[in-house]
Parts: sequence; structure tokens; C-alpha cells
Amino acid sequence: MRQDDLDLRYPEGFLWGCATASFQIEGAHDADGRGESIWDRFSHTPGKVEGGDTGDLACDHYHRFREDVALMKELGLKAYRFSIAWPRIIPDGSGAVNEAGLDFYRELVAELRAAGIVPVATLYHWDLPQPLQERGGWLNRSVCDCFARYARIVFDALGDGVGMWITHNEPWCAAFLGHEKGVHAPGIVDPTMKTALLVAHHLLLSHGMAVREYRSAGLSAPIGIALNMAPFAPAGNSAGDAEAARRAYRAGNDWFAMPVLRGEYPADIAARYQAAGIMPTVGQGDMATIGAGIDFLGINVYFRQLATHDPAAGPIEARVEFGPGSRTSMGWEIYARATRDILISVSAEYPGVDLYVTENGAAFDDRVEYEPDGSPRVHDKDRITFLRDQLCQAHEVFAAGVPFKGYFLWSFMDNFEWAYGYSKRFGIVHVDYESQRRTPKDSALWYRSVMEANGL
Ligand code: FCB
Repeated sequence: MRQDDLDLRYPEGFLWGCATASFQIEGAHDADGRGESIWDRFSHTPGKVEGGDTGDLACDHYHRFREDVALMKELGLKAYRFSIAWPRIIPDGSGAVNEAGLDFYRELVAELRAAGIVPVATLYHWDLPQPLQERGGWLNRSVCDCFARYARIVFDALGDGVGMWITHNEPWCAAFLGHEKGVHAPGIVDPTMKTALLVAHHLLLSHGMAVREYRSAGLSAPIGIALNMAPFAPAGNSAGDAEAARRAYRAGNDWFAMPVLRGEYPADIAARYQAAGIMPTVGQGDMATIGAGIDFLGINVYFRQLATHDPAAGPIEARVEFGPGSRTSMGWEIYARATRDILISVSAEYPGVDLYVTENGAAFDDRVEYEPDGSPRVHDKDRITFLRDQLCQAHEVFAAGVPFKGYFLWSFMDNFEWAYGYSKRFGIVHVDYESQRRTPKDSALWYRSVMEANGL
């Protein structure tokens, strides 16, 4: 499709924004009483993060948030999704509250409001206070109580200044990348998945407990959760691969969405985990707590996956990989219909719940070029193509009646990409980490025009 042939309006009131996360951008790792997080510990452990990169400075957003918000305003953002660093609020995770930490987010929220940007706050984007890890982290059920208390403190402090709340970001990643593969903090390796499944259960439980706190706090903004989700397709033409794709979909997507939206785990997958001896113990009342009700579901979508039936591939008997299309610099397949497909399948399975894309984007090896007058430019054509294709295809869901309400591009600016450190650039704003100079890439100017026109 040529861009000038397009005329795709999004529905009135559609919420356009960008997303970031505290550990990835804030830096100021020991400022104003902030405690240590598991990502500080992990990134300071040799060999864990590419290039030995840490979050100590990152984009120094903690000190530069006013200029960052000014740039968001200039670029026409309607909403901004950020996360709150638990160790700034409660440095040891469970003890005294650090008012200076709350002040930072109070000021950020005020700054966003003054700029006419809706603040969207995520409570947990993976930076668990390290002292809680010493007590077992998310393996320890009592950490759920600590999370609910932390959530309540933040709800009370920020109140209705925040326009939308998200409890957890991608519990699948926190559980499985952190406790099966060990490539994310806290770096626990357990290929049986038993540890990861217990962690996942506790993350879900703590989500439900936080929602309960939220309702009792009497706030009115919508609250939800952000799940990483992907469409799955069979790798081959066999019935076996088709079944494998369905199972992989349920294990990857429904394992989280179904408890939250319906208060139950997918029974077929649970039976497989039970048979393998890795099903977590589900306490009385847990599922009701988890499924007590959210106002919207956030979907983080980057790619699709292909599945092959493989009896040797663990209890799900599905081998999952990327498709054959061209790739981003993360090695993720570029698949134009990923956003569209997941919105369609989620709304078919869970009709009625408002859906937001809370992350979508792509990393490419951007280069800064200089105009004759010396001003920097980043001609990130690949990213524009990626985003345009996702948004064009996703527009189809409106005709199908899908309640798709908003889109948050990952990411506002280049940042600390977890185990890849600063080597991967997802931003529509380029960050020179030496000088901390921000340069809007061509994609930022393009996205501004999309937000302005409310469509393509
Ligand atoms: C998601 C994370 C986000 C970012 C993107 C690229 O899994 O939520 O922090 O790293 O991937």
C-alpha cells in the first residue's frame, strides 16, 4: 500500500500514545532514597547484560522528565504510559515509604496533565525491590501482600491524576524469562517451568489483590493489566501443527488472559501441567481474586509465532519459532498482521472487554546523519514501514466490531533493552547516551501526523 493512497480514520476518541518503563529510562539509581531493584543487581552481575550495560544512568529521565514531557507535547502525544519504580516508593519493598519517590511521580503526573497528556501508570514493570528477592521474590506468596500494599500507597498518592492504571506488565516475561530461561532478573534457571508457573500464579494473584485495593480506594479511572500476546499459526499443513498452534496460543496467551478475565486457567493446559507435576498450588479463593474484574485488557504485541507439533517439546508438545519473514534487529519476524490478528482473536474469546495495544514497535539499527547545517536526523524508514503496516492492518478490526480503544507505541525514546542493554533501539526519539541529547527520528514526525489526523 502506498501511503498517499491511504485514508484510514480511527474512531473518535481513540487514545494515541507512547510507552516506556522506569528501569529502562530513569537512571538515578540511587537518587533520593531509591532502593536497589533486581534489575540493578542483575545488570551489575558480570555476563548478564550485553556490554555490561546497567540502568544507572539510562536516559537520565529522572532528572530530565520536564524536557521529555515537553518533547512529548511537541510530538502530539495524547497519552503517555510509564511505570513506577517500586524501590523508589518503598526502598526495601515492604517497609517505610519514601516520600521523595512519590514526589517524583506526582511531579511527572502534574507535568503531563499540564501538557494535556493523559498519564497511564504501570505499577510493576519488573523492578522488584532486591530485599524482597532475598525473601524469595515472586516465589514467596507473601510478596503479593507487599505488592498490594505498595499499590494502595501509589493509588492514594497519585489518585485520579492518573488516567489509566496497569497493574503488571507482561507477567509471562517476568515469570518465564526470569525464572525458566534466566535471561532476565532474577536470573533463575528452571527448565521444568515449575518455578516460572508458580511465579506466574503469584503475579496474577497480586494483580487481583491490587485491583481489589484499587476498588476500595474509590478511584474512578479504568484499571487493567498488560499482557504480552502473539498470534500463533501452524508451521506446516498438518493437523498436528494446527493443534500445536492452538495449544501454544492457550499456553502463551490464555494462561494469563483467562484467569484475569474469567477467573480460571485454560483446563486443557492445566491438565498437561498437572500431569507433568508442574501445576502451581492454587489457594482457595485465588481464582476469584485474580478474576475479580478489570476495565480493559492491555496487549503488548510485536510478532507472530509459528508452532510445530513436537512430543519432545515439553508438556505443551509444541515447538515455537519465528516465521520466515524479514526481521527486526531483535531477530523478531516482521509480520504486518500481528496486531490485527491478536486483537481479533482476543475479542472473539473475550467479547466485551475494551482492548488497548499497550506496546507495539520495532528495533532497528538506526544511524544519526547530519544535515549541512549540522542538525542531526535519523531516517528510520524501516520503523515507519513497520508501524504503518501494523496500523493499517489493525484498522480492519473496527469493521469487525472489536473494541480497540488505544495504541501505545514502544517506545517514546531509545532505552535500556533488558538483557540487550543499549544495543537495541526501539525509540521514535533517538538518545545519544553520551550527551543525553534527544533527536526525534523521522518516525516521530510521521507518528505525530498519524495522531494529529487520527489515522493514516
Ligand atoms: C516488552 C517489554 C518492554 C520492552 C519491549 C521491547 O517485552 O515490556 O519493556 O523491552 O518488550
